[in-house]
Amino acid sequence: MPAYFVTGTDTGVGKTRTSAALIHALRGAGHARVVGMKPVAAGCDWVDGINGHPGQWLNEDVVALRQASSLHVPSSFDNPYALPAAVSPHIAAKLANTEIDLDHIEANFHALQQHADAVVVEGAGGFIVPLCEQPGVFLTSADLAQRLWLPVIMVVGLRLGCLNHALLTQEAILARGLTLAGWVANAVDPNMPEQAANLATLQAHLQAPMLAHWGWDPQATPAELAKRIDLP
Ligand SMILES: Nc1ncnc2c1ncn2[C@@H]1O[C@H](COP(=O)(O)OP(=O)(O)OP(=O)(O)O)[C@@H](O)[C@H]1O
Ligand SMILES: [Mg+2]
Repeated sequence: MPAYFVTGTDTGVGKTRTSAALIHALRGAGHARVVGMKPVAAGCDWVDGINGHPGQWLNEDVVALRQASSLHVPSSFDNPYALPAAVSPHIAAKLANTEIDLDHIEANFHALQQHADAVVVEGAGGFIVPLCEQPGVFLTSADLAQRLWLPVIMVVGLRLGCLNHALLTQEAILARGLTLAGWVANAVDPNMPEQAANLATLQAHLQAPMLAHWGWDPQATPAELAKRIDLP
């Protein structure tokens, strides 16, 4: 069953865009029940319940993944940690008086896997974003990727500094024994100088196929982008 962990060179580089496009691409490839998962979302709005349903904290990435998904599940499964504060997850968890538990995320992921034909997991921020910091314990998004043992797809936000970030992220993925299944070049800066030269360097030194190259386009929909992505 296809399942991927989507990480990025930084926060705000197009992980949600890519995850939603991947979900559409997997659906287009014949997988009927495809679901997105955002295990840890930091930055939520309170949404009042309607028709007797309780209110809940809701994150915009989670909404976008749900819109793309063809399998819909209770929110505790596709987003077990909905943390109100838009800060690093380990700080957001402390502010919410909770602690991010990888066992809990893993159990929910396996539950999703049982009901889905494909799962796309979007990480929080960059690859080594802290998730839990307690005396004697330090867990990051990389530990989560390792725990789920998924092939990783890296989104490179094309802007100044991305070569360093992409190469560092690749090293960290490979150092943990994980597979870099592919990467996406995403033009988040419409005025990036020497974009072609940067792409050539990425293509020469990233040890995985480029799955897509998207230009700067604020209006592009996941369904459109999905037509321009090669599934790994
Ligand atoms: N190629 C692009 N052209 C124009 N705008 C883009 C492009 N890619 C992403 N964006 C915009 O940049 C913002 C960040 O993208 P996105 O939410 O996918 O990033 P992210 O890596 O998931 O961020 P986060 O770390 O918050 O999860 C969004 O507003 C998105 O619409
Ligand atoms: Mg996102």
